[in-house]
Amino acid sequence: MILIFRFSESRKTMNIKETIEEKIMKLKRQRRAVILAHNYQADEVQEMADFTGDSLELSQRAAKIEADVIVFCGVHFMAETASILCPEKIILLPDKTSGCPMADMINADQLRELKAKHPDALVVCYVNSTAEVKAESDYCCTSANAVAVVRSIPEDRQIIFVPDKFLGQHVMSQTGRSMILWPGYCPTHARISEEDILREKQSHPGALVMVHPECTNPVRAAADQVLSTGQMCRFVRNSPVEEFIVGTELGIMYRLKKENPGKRFYPAKESAVCPNMKKITLEKILWSLEDMEYEVRVSDQVRERAKLALDRMMALSV
Ligand code: 13P
Ligand code: SF4
Repeated sequence: MILIFRFSESRKTMNIKETIEEKIMKLKRQRRAVILAHNYQADEVQEMADFTGDSLELSQRAAKIEADVIVFCGVHFMAETASILCPEKIILLPDKTSGCPMADMINADQLRELKAKHPDALVVCYVNSTAEVKAESDYCCTSANAVAVVRSIPEDRQIIFVPDKFLGQHVMSQTGRSMILWPGYCPTHARISEEDILREKQSHPGALVMVHPECTNPVRAAADQVLSTGQMCRFVRNSPVEEFIVGTELGIMYRLKKENPGKRFYPAKESAVCPNMKKITLEKILWSLEDMEYEVRVSDQVRERAKLALDRMMALSV
């Protein structure tokens, strides 16, 4: 619990001090706001959130939430996605520099160039992409539904998949489809190596290995399950197994441990931390609600086109 101290406060006023959590709760009510947090957020941010989930679950929640304001504790593309799905709401990102390096590995001009080289191909973009890239795409997908989205595309159509080459390779292996891949990747997941998985397996022979599809090919090949973060939570809950090696960003450990107190979790790599996800703090959530900053809004022109790609994905993900 973090207390807010003002320098001018005297001893007499000490008992009326509010915790930062209480201040956030009060402002949330005043602003008719909800707090959404990605599974990679810091423990105390997840604790403060009304809902924590993976990229798909957060999009689904944002689309049907009743509120005037959404404080999005995640990275920029997630707040943009919420803005595309609910333009009538104010979407706040508590740290405006919280971006996703993978999403920035392709821009709309680069995608247009690639499309010009393959004019008959349909474009599937991972949700970890800018709104402008989504606007140039036919379908969007998340790590939870990428395989289903690609399976829904007629066999005779060529597919361009951007920007994550590892998720793309995973989808190819699951669907048997060949796709034109963009060479993007997640720097946090790329840190997890096959050696990390083999070492943890040796230390915990009874443990099941779950890794994220953003992991490299040898890491996915060494795993028992390749799952989105939301799928990991469900898989652990329903599994009789008691020990798990977890190959993804470390923020997920908080939720896994909280929801499964009797089970044990071992990170595949202690340094698998996304610095951008960790930029959001309780203080920044409070300031965000106080100052109504930083608003993320997608222009109508881009939004209308990007929404088509997102709607096609949402229709496949009940
Ligand atoms: P999911 O939580 O949807 O699996 O996504 C992982 C991710 O990297 C989000 O940035
Ligand atoms: Fe982007 Fe990777 Fe961080 Fe997710 S974990 S936000 S893909 S850099």
